[in-house]
Amino acid sequence: MTTTPRIALVTGANQGIGLQIASDLAKAGLTVLLASRNPDRGEAAAQTLEGDVHPIQLDVTDGASIRAAVEEVESRFGRLDILINNAAISRANGQESETMESYIQRSRATLIPVEEVRAVWETNVFGVLAVTQAFVPLLRKSDDARIVNVSSGLGSLTVNAAPHPYRATFNPGYGASKTALNAITLAFAIDLEDEGIKVNAVTPGFTKTALNNYEGTDTVEQGAAEAVRVALLGRDGPTGTFTGWQNETVPW
Ligand SMILES: NC(=O)c1ccc[n+]([C@@H]2O[C@H](COP(=O)([O-])OP(=O)(O)OC[C@H]3O[C@@H](n4cnc5c(N)ncnc54)[C@H](OP(=O)(O)O)[C@@H]3O)[C@@H](O)[C@H]2O)c1
Repeated sequence: MTTTPRIALVTGANQGIGLQIASDLAKAGLTVLLASRNPDRGEAAAQTLEGDVHPIQLDVTDGASIRAAVEEVESRFGRLDILINNAAISRANGQESETMESYIQRSRATLIPVEEVRAVWETNVFGVLAVTQAFVPLLRKSDDARIVNVSSGLGSLTVNAAPHPYRATFNPGYGASKTALNAITLAFAIDLEDEGIKVNAVTPGFTKTALNNYEGTDTVEQGAAEAVRVALLGRDGPTGTFTGWQNETVPW
């Protein structure tokens, strides 16, 4: 049995929902590894939190950065209990403050540049795949490991196959990247089932963050809640689920 506090690593935790997840887990008594692609932003974010919080550099699109992060976690902590794949981008056009309306219009399937789709998938899909594969050996050293992938209801094929008011936001970039992330979540859940490592996807609601030009309507506290709930489930918790707050099943 593990007697030390559980150790959780959150990617993209220097701002937004990831920072709130890190804060909530630290307040719950966990040791939190606050991962950030920019070390200065990670350091500054970690200083705003209470509890046992350690900033760590991790760019999910950079193999050398991922390897260095794994080595650092191994040498300092020896294992990982919870991996939260939260880092993501919604666009790669270099326009941080683009309005949602402009983003939705120019990201339609007939218009979005293939290069932008590749860049979004590099972070949201291949980044999660690479980070998860790299940390599985450390998760195997935990006696109760789990992986939480922060996905999006926008990636649900079932939801988007039927008419609904926000359907135009489903595009080959962000929307489809989250569909692929859901598929990868299920693949890891199947692969790791016999070892007892739990792998689940969660979705925040429409949350006010940089990802959507701060046009979201939920607070980051609300946005983080389901990821935190699933991260804190015990060894009897389910695997291979896709849920929103509070344990609401979202169709794949
Ligand atoms: N906001 C919503 O309404 C909403 C809804 C559904 C799902 N989600 C999901 O919630 C998660 C968090 O998003 P958010 O809304 O909190 O957005 P956010 O405020 O833009 O935060 C995204 C985080 O990901 C980091 N990141 C981006 N590329 C990275 C890379 N290559 N390596 C490491 N970190 C990287 C960002 O770092 P920098 O600060 O350096 O850019 C930032 O810390 C995402 O998975 C998103 O898809 C959000």
